Amino acid sequence: MYIANCRIRGREGLWNVACENGKFDRIRPADGIIPEGATDAKERLLMPPFVEPHIHLDCVMTAGIPHYNMSGTLFEGISTWHEYKTTQPLLIPEIKDRARQALRLMAEHGVQFVRTHVDVTETSFQSAKALLELRDELKGILELQLVAFPQNGILSTVGGKDLMIRAMDMGFDCVGGIPHFEFCREYGVESLDFIFALAEKYDAMVDVHCDEMDDEQSRYLEVLATKAWERSLGPRTVAAHTCAMGSYNNAYTTKLFRALLESKINFNSCPTESVHLQGRAENYPKRRGVTRIRELTEAGMNVALGQDSIADPWYPIGVGDLLRVLEMGIHIEHLMGYKDLSKCLDFISQNGAKNLCIEDVYGIEEGKPANFILLDGKDDYDVVRFHSAVVLSVHNGEILSQKTPATAVVHNI
Ligand code: FE2
Repeated sequence: MYIANCRIRGREGLWNVACENGKFDRIRPADGIIPEGATDAKERLLMPPFVEPHIHLDCVMTAGIPHYNMSGTLFEGISTWHEYKTTQPLLIPEIKDRARQALRLMAEHGVQFVRTHVDVTETSFQSAKALLELRDELKGILELQLVAFPQNGILSTVGGKDLMIRAMDMGFDCVGGIPHFEFCREYGVESLDFIFALAEKYDAMVDVHCDEMDDEQSRYLEVLATKAWERSLGPRTVAAHTCAMGSYNNAYTTKLFRALLESKINFNSCPTESVHLQGRAENYPKRRGVTRIRELTEAGMNVALGQDSIADPWYPIGVGDLLRVLEMGIHIEHLMGYKDLSKCLDFISQNGAKNLCIEDVYGIEEGKPANFILLDGKDDYDVVRFHSAVVLSVHNGEILSQKTPATAVVHNI
């Protein structure tokens, strides 16, 4: 495969990129001549693929079954999901089929690496088995990481610890958690101790739903960061959502940031989901329910943006398009100054790669696996402004998806 005359994100000028045996072989400045057999990129932007750091593939594509979430709230989402599970028994082929539908959408939009949470308090373990099968079937085509996610809590579920151990024994990649949803603070703290002990035992990564609520007193993030710091596991740890940080007072947050920085943990935010589900306990003025993406980033911490849901009881829309999530995030977090816009694709690419600890297979460099996308735009600003199509997505040197950008004809202006 030979791509000629492309821009490469982060480099000046135009380039020719040749891939062989699934790897980047030669990356050379373009000289204006399209070599024989090469594809003319027409000065489009070539960059590493988009990374989806946080989704729940076990729930995707279930919106409307047995009925839609009429209020749009988190709590009606939970009760609707319960109705789904009791009226539509979870079966491995059906779960895999829904997950594949979502992954095809993501592939179309340039995603090649996906971290999915899987509810392991669903004691049939059908979701766990289905997504383990899918991870192995898709290996080399599109990469999946699985998080053992205790939707109903670890201590607050009968046998919760055993369910987490069972998932890790089956080969899950990450230990998950939900400390703010445990019955009491002591359970939340104990769950974090358990999570890190499990991560050490299984040499696994950690990805915790943390403080996903508007309660300014929900303060498990300080505990998560401290436990990660104590065990030097920060770079392999993700604090997901941390919505409560959007409600913390500034004096507390200033103190908190010291621990966050020292711990070296990573962050994930899902702005489309959070702005939809949070802020529901108040009238006006209404908070945004999204973590401090701008402040964390300016302080030098790593924040990746994800979708969380595609057409499920909690979030009814979504098409696997991270540019849409990015647009929402930069609006909510006042990240549309020119400097912000010129590097905004970091949030859905390299920052996600850092969360997933896949930097060894990620990047446009000779010798690395040929994982890249070609966007119908010239730089970050252009891509986010025009919502550019992913015209080509290549994983390990093989084409994963192709798209012809739509054209419009406007008359009489
Ligand atoms: Fe989530």
